[in-house]
Amino acid sequence: MWGGRFSSAPDAIMEEINASIDFDKAMFRQDIAGSKAHAAMLEAQGILSHEDVAKIVHGLDTILREIETGQFTFSRQLEDIHMNVEARLRELIGDAAGRLHTGRSRNDQVATDFKLWVRDTIDALDAALAGLQKTLAEKALEHAAVFMPGFTHLQSAQPVTFGHHLMAYVEMLGRDRGRFADARKRLNESPLGAAALAGTSFPIDRDMTAKALGFDRPTANSLDSVSDRDFVLEALSAATISAMHLSRFAEELVIWSSAQFRFVHLSDKFTTGSSIMPQKRNPDAAELVRAKIGRIAGAYQALVIVMKGLPLAYSKDMQEDKEQAFDAFNAFSLVIAATSGMVADLEPNEKTLAKAAGSGFATATDLADWLVRVLDLPFRDAHHVTGRIVALAEELNCDLHRVPLADMQAIEPKITKDVLGVLSVRKSVMSRVSYGGTAPANVRKQAKRWIRALER
Ligand code: ARG
Repeated sequence: MWGGRFSSAPDAIMEEINASIDFDKAMFRQDIAGSKAHAAMLEAQGILSHEDVAKIVHGLDTILREIETGQFTFSRQLEDIHMNVEARLRELIGDAAGRLHTGRSRNDQVATDFKLWVRDTIDALDAALAGLQKTLAEKALEHAAVFMPGFTHLQSAQPVTFGHHLMAYVEMLGRDRGRFADARKRLNESPLGAAALAGTSFPIDRDMTAKALGFDRPTANSLDSVSDRDFVLEALSAATISAMHLSRFAEELVIWSSAQFRFVHLSDKFTTGSSIMPQKRNPDAAELVRAKIGRIAGAYQALVIVMKGLPLAYSKDMQEDKEQAFDAFNAFSLVIAATSGMVADLEPNEKTLAKAAGSGFATATDLADWLVRVLDLPFRDAHHVTGRIVALAEELNCDLHRVPLADMQAIEPKITKDVLGVLSVRKSVMSRVSYGGTAPANVRKQAKRWIRALER
C-alpha cells in the first residue's frame, strides 16, 4: 500500500507484532458498511464518478458475500481488515478501488468501524440482558411466597422470599442496561471524515455519512475523533459492573446448590459430574459465570492503561484496543446466556429454604418491633430485651417461639402470649409490606410491573 517510500519488505517479526487481521476481521461488516457510506457520499459530492462508485459498491457487496461464506482469503501481509478489503477490491474492480480512500484515513475508518461494532454489541447485550431480566422476573413471580433466609454478613438476618431475592437482580440488571444505554448515546457520533487527524480539503459531507451509518451527528473535532477510545472503555466498564452483578448471583448459586445448603437444585444441563467422585454434581456454569469477570475487568484495565499518557492523535498503541475487548464482550454475552439458562431451570427447595428461614433467630427484629409497637418501649430498649431473650434461646438451644413465656416475662414482665404471633417466619415476611419490602404481595407487584415493561 505504501511501497513508494520503502525499499525493503517488513521483517517477519514486524509482521507478527503489527498485523491485526487475526482479530479485527470480526469488524468486516462494519468496515464494508462504512466504506459504502463513504463512497456514496463521495459520489453525491461530485468527488467520485457514478461509474467508479457503482463498481466500488458492487465490489464491496461481493467481498461481503465472500467473507460471509468463508471464501475470502485473509492475509497478514495486508495487516488489517481495512487493507484486506481494499486489496481485494482492487483485484475485483481495478483502479476504481484506489479512489475509495479519498478524503479518508485508516484512523477515522477504524474508529468508525469499532464504534459501529461496539454499538451493535451494546444492542445485542441489551436484548440479552432484557431476556435475563424477564426470566428472573417470571421465576420470582412463580416463587413470590417461597420463604428463605435473608443474609447480611452471610449470617441469618431476617426471612425474605425467594422471589424478592431474584427481583434484586432484576433491579441491578435494569441499572446495567441504563449504563449501556448512556454509553450508546455518547458513542453515537461519527468519526468518519476526520481523516488522518486534521480533516480533509475535499468537500466531503460528514452529515451524510453520519446519517447513513445511523449516527446522530458527526464528531466535532478531528483530533478527538481519531484518538477517542472512551466509547470502548465505557462499554467495557458497563460490562464489568454487570458481570460483577452476575458473578455475585453465580456465587450464591454455588453456595445454595451445595449439599450443606440444598437451597436450590440446578438442572443437569448446567452442572457436570466428577471423573472420580460419583456423587458429585458440580455447578461449573455458575463457577464460570463467577469467574469470567476476570477477563472483562481485565480488558477494561488493559485498555485504560494503553490509553493513559498517549499524546494526540492516533498512535499504533490504539490497535491494542480491540482483541481483549472482543474477548471480553464475547465472554460477557456467554455469561448472560449461561445465567439465563440456569435461572430458567432453577428449582428452589421450598422446605429446606423455609426451615433455614427460621433458623439463627431470624425473627428477632420482629420481636423487638413488637415490643416497640405493643409495649411502647423505645427501640433501643426493645433491642436490648430481645438480645437477652435470644441469648436465653441460645442457652436453651431452641427457636425464639419455643422460649417459655414465663422466661420471657422474667426479662420483660409486660410481654404477653400475643408475642408468639409475630415470631413465625410467615408472619415476619407477610408483615414486610413497606415499599420495596419482601412481602409476597410486593414481590408479585414488582415482578408483574417488570414483566409488563419488558414485554413492551
Ligand atoms: N489496524 C489499525 C488499528 O486497529 C488501523 C489503523 C491504522 N492506522 C495507522 N495509521 N497505521 O488501529
